Amino acid sequence: MTTAGLTDPVVPSATSKNLFQLQDVYRIYGEEPVAVHALDGVSVEINSGDFMAIIGPSGSGKSTLLGLLGCLDLPTRGSIKVSGTEVTTLEDSQRSKLRGDTIGFVFQQFHLIPHLTAMGNVATALLYRNMTKAERKDQAMEALTKVGLAERHDHRPVQMSGGEQQRVALARAIVTDPLMILADEPTGALDTKNAAMVMEIFKDLQGENRAIVVVTHDLEIAEQMDRVVSMRDGKIISDDLNRERTESLQDQFWESGGGTKLE
Ligand SMILES: Nc1ncnc2c1ncn2[C@@H]1O[C@H](COP(=O)(O)OP(=O)(O)OP(=O)(O)O)[C@@H](O)[C@H]1O
Ligand SMILES: [Mg+2]
Repeated sequence: MTTAGLTDPVVPSATSKNLFQLQDVYRIYGEEPVAVHALDGVSVEINSGDFMAIIGPSGSGKSTLLGLLGCLDLPTRGSIKVSGTEVTTLEDSQRSKLRGDTIGFVFQQFHLIPHLTAMGNVATALLYRNMTKAERKDQAMEALTKVGLAERHDHRPVQMSGGEQQRVALARAIVTDPLMILADEPTGALDTKNAAMVMEIFKDLQGENRAIVVVTHDLEIAEQMDRVVSMRDGKIISDDLNRERTESLQDQFWESGGGTKLE
């Protein structure tokens, strides 16, 4: 549950839009008696403006949940709505289109195409759009500029550091201007300095029209997010606004004469 009362002045509810709605979602791998209950009855809503971490021990279902949010996988049962559309009943091609139109996904191991340049890798996300090659290049360059890599546009992955490769992967995720950015351990393969740089980019991308969801083992990363969902054994065991950040935002609101301060 989100801390009651504190949400009101912080979240712009008038503009906040429900981007993900999961109702009683189960993901079971294999058959009984050896079935793995990776997700065991998960219900959660994620709204535009959410800047959310998913934490929990190894095997608790974080990547499984993110894969379902990202329309990369389907649940064994339960309902998943993305931007109001029930995805579990869509044809594969419709689900791929919804994913391509609305979601940017970032993986721990970057998943760049080795023989393409940074620009080429970013532009792949635009291949199925009705755009000319020049338009794709321009948009890819814009995304590379946002992650500080415009000058490296003609480098291939092998010619870049891990941090740079992850920034290219981020550029590829944002080049379509997605409503949701999903990242599975995006800093897991990076040193502290590069991890901080990637987090700064996520913060720049944060906005009231979009949701950013980051799976992380790193509590220091989770503390930088506004909302933290904890998982254990395939279940969500807590879902809280990050109190310190909330209070500081609330103080700003109060100081600006925004309304009654809630306890
Ligand atoms: N394709 C699969 N087939 C069978 N079991 C799977 C599969 N993918 C995940 N699992 C199992 O589902 C459970 C949840 O896995 P998941 O990858 O979601 O955990 P996680 O929280 O992301 O863990 P980690 O922090 O180690 O990445 C684990 O017990 C895992 O072994
Ligand atoms: Mg995982």
